[in-house]
Amino acid sequence: MGDETFLDEFLRRERRKLELPKRVRIFDTTLRDGEQTPRVSFTIDEKLTLARQLDKLGVDVIEAGFPISSKGEREAVKKISREGLNAKVCGLSRVLRPDIDACLDCDVDIVHTFVSTSDIQLKHTIKKSRDEVLRMAVDAVSYIKDHGRECLFSAMDATRTDLDFLIKINKAVEEAGADRINIPDTVGIMIPIAMRDLISRIREEVKVPIDVHCHNDFGLAVPNSLAAVEAGAQGVHVAVNGLGERAGNASLEGVVMGLMRIYRVETNIKPRYLVQTSRLVERLSRVPVPPNYPIVGENAFAHESGIHTHGVVSDFRTFEPGLITPEMVGHRRALVAGKLAGVHGIGKMLKEMGISATKSQLKEITQRVKDLGDKKRIVTNSDLRAIAEDVIGALPKEKEVVKLKEATVTTGTTVTPTASVRLIVRGEERVGSATGVGPVDAAINALRNVMDEISELRLKEYHLDAITGGSDALAAVTVKLEDEKNNLYIAKGVGEDVVVASVNAMVKGINQYFAGQN
Ligand code: KIV
Ligand code: ZN
Repeated sequence: MGDETFLDEFLRRERRKLELPKRVRIFDTTLRDGEQTPRVSFTIDEKLTLARQLDKLGVDVIEAGFPISSKGEREAVKKISREGLNAKVCGLSRVLRPDIDACLDCDVDIVHTFVSTSDIQLKHTIKKSRDEVLRMAVDAVSYIKDHGRECLFSAMDATRTDLDFLIKINKAVEEAGADRINIPDTVGIMIPIAMRDLISRIREEVKVPIDVHCHNDFGLAVPNSLAAVEAGAQGVHVAVNGLGERAGNASLEGVVMGLMRIYRVETNIKPRYLVQTSRLVERLSRVPVPPNYPIVGENAFAHESGIHTHGVVSDFRTFEPGLITPEMVGHRRALVAGKLAGVHGIGKMLKEMGISATKSQLKEITQRVKDLGDKKRIVTNSDLRAIAEDVIGALPKEKEVVKLKEATVTTGTTVTPTASVRLIVRGEERVGSATGVGPVDAAINALRNVMDEISELRLKEYHLDAITGGSDALAAVTVKLEDEKNNLYIAKGVGEDVVVASVNAMVKGINQYFAGQN
C-alpha cells in the first residue's frame, strides 16, 4: 500500500493548473472586523496586548482599527503603530479625507480605504451613483499615495457588484496608485469555484497583488479564501477564532494551516503560537471557541471512541489528518474517557496518569467508565483516576469475604431514613435493614445488623468528596475503621450514588479487616 493519498496525487497532477503564489500575505483583521463582532469591544490596552501577540504569531499586517470611529480607537491604533512591531500596521478609512487623515495621524504603514460598489449598497446605504463612488475612490487613493503610505483599496460587497463595474473601479484605483486591491465577499455568499473564477478574471485586468476578504455566512469563508489563493490571490484577510461581523471572517487558523500544510504555500506564521493566540483572543473577546473548532478547539486532537483511541495510540495518523500535529500548533492530544471508551485508550490515559493496572483491572476500569458514561455526560480525568484507584485498591475478588449485592434506601422529609442491604458473606446470602439519622447512616447500620462478626469494628472517620462539580458528580467516600486491637482499615468507595459508594467503602474496609484476621 502506497502512502500517497488521493489528495497528494490530485495536487501533484493539478498543481500546474493552479495559480498558487509561493507565499501569501496574512492580513489580520481581528482588531478591526473582529472587533465588529456583535458585543465584542477591546480596551486600548487589550488591543495592544493582542497586537503584540499577533506580531509574535507572525502576521504580516495588523489591521488595528478604524481611527475615525472614536477617540479611543484612534489612541489604540496610534499606540499599536508606535509599538515597533515587525508587522505592518493598517488603519481603515472610508474614501473620505477626514478618515484618511485620522489614519495618517496614527502613523499607520497602510491605509485600507473602502467604498460600497454593489447596486444594493449604493442605493440603500451610501446613496451615490457608480460614477460618484469611482471618483471618490480615485481621489482617496491619490490622497493616500500623496502622503507616502501603502494603499489597499476595497470595493465593498465586491462579490455582488456588477463585474464590469468592479473591474472598472479596480483598474481606476490601480492607475491612481493603489498598491493592492482587496475583493471582499462582504456578506459571505460566494462558493469556492466561483471565487476562483472571479479572482482569475480580475487578475486578467489588474496587475497589483490581490487580497481576499471572506465572511462566513454560509460557513465557506475558509474554503472561499483558499479558492482565491488557488486563483492567484496573494493576500488573505483573516481573524483569530473567525471573529468578525455576523458569522465572522475567515479564521486565521483554518486558512493558515490549510495554506501551509495542504497547499504547501508559505506564510510568515509560526503555527506553534496558534493555540496561545486563540486562547488570548477568546479570553479578551469573551467569545468562546466551540470545542469542535478546527485546529485550536479543545477537541481538535481529542479522541474518545474505543476504535479511534486504539488507532491513535498505535499511530496518530489513523484518525488524524497527519498533516498537522497538536505540537505543531501548540495544542496537545487528548484521550477522553466515556461510554465509547476502549481498553487501549483507557490504558494509555492511566499510564499518562502514572497508574499501572493489571489486564483484568483495566478491563474492570474500562467497564466502569462505560457504565458511568452511559449515566452521565462527561467522564472527567478525575473520575477516571477515582475509578482506577477504587478498582486497583480493592482486594482480589477471590479474597473478598463480603460482597455487596444490593443496597436500597428510603429517605425524605417525612420518613425516617431506612436502608436495606443484601450481602453474600462467605458464599451465604444475608439480608437486613436498619434506620439511621440519614440514608448513609441507615445503610451502614443495616450492614452492621447483618454482620455480627463486625460488632467490634468502629467507624472512626467518614469522608465524602465530590470528584467533579455538578449534581451528577462521582462521589468518593473514604472510611476509616478501627478494630478492637486499634488496627486501622482505610477504604474508599467510588460511585454516582453516595449511599452505594458509602456501603462499598464499608464493605471494602470490612474485607480488609477479615484479610487481616487470617
Ligand atoms: O466585509 C467587508 O467588506 C469589509 C470591508 C471594510 C473590507 O470589512
Ligand atoms: Zn469584513
